[in-house]
Amino acid sequence: MLHDGYAANECDDGMSMFEEPASYREDVFDITFGDVSFQVRGLKRDLGQTLQSTGLTIWRASDHLNDYIYRNMNLFRHSKILELGAGLGMVSILIDKLDLSKTIIASDGDDAALKLLESNVSSTKSSVIPKKLVWGNMIDIDSIKIEYNFFDMIIGADIIYEESQIPALLATIKELLKPEGLFILAFARRNVPMNQVINEAEILGLTHTILEKGIDETEPIYMFKYI
Ligand SMILES: C[S@@+](CC[C@H](N)C(=O)[O-])C[C@H]1O[C@@H](n2cnc3c(N)ncnc32)[C@H](O)[C@@H]1O
Repeated sequence: MLHDGYAANECDDGMSMFEEPASYREDVFDITFGDVSFQVRGLKRDLGQTLQSTGLTIWRASDHLNDYIYRNMNLFRHSKILELGAGLGMVSILIDKLDLSKTIIASDGDDAALKLLESNVSSTKSSVIPKKLVWGNMIDIDSIKIEYNFFDMIIGADIIYEESQIPALLATIKELLKPEGLFILAFARRNVPMNQVINEAEILGLTHTILEKGIDETEPIYMFKYI
């Protein structure tokens, strides 16, 4: 593991994404990859509490994705990258600190998560652009498209956990990804089988490759692209 002071938490099933969070303790996460070092703030869930706004803490998939990015920087050298469901923003901030992309937008649909994301972008003096983007919401999508057009790469860590959200997530990717673009997904095992995502993505013409299987081979990093 390349970084210190990192906490990964499990998620409760049946959470509601856009409600007020329950009781949390604030926490600071120190993230170090080589010469790059920064801190992000989040709210650590108290034991026994139901986690309602999942972007308020850091998840193991973003840890895995950051580690992968650090080891495979050339894949992430693009002029425009969009992160979906960015939570605290640590993946986008790392991409910015490693100077891999001219424009990196970290989006989230949850207002509480977005507030922390904005605060983390500012405290790390990062040039990441935080944006509200609820998957499938054409007002959010169009406002990003008008300003930034299409993206070379879309990334996401631990954003597959509600079956009902998969069509909206894939539709968002379809709207904002260049035809030759890449979608990189760090999967975290929850109650949605990855095969369902793969099948729905294939219907939209997106084929997948496994870039890295992950520690127990059940939480891979996937790359999707148009056939
Ligand atoms: C499990 S968290 C992962 C956060 C971050 N990627 C990480 O790995 O640390 C999922 C994130 O997706 C966001 N999210 C969930 N459903 C969403 C939707 N329909 N539209 C936009 N964001 C959504 C949540 O607000 C949350 O920040």
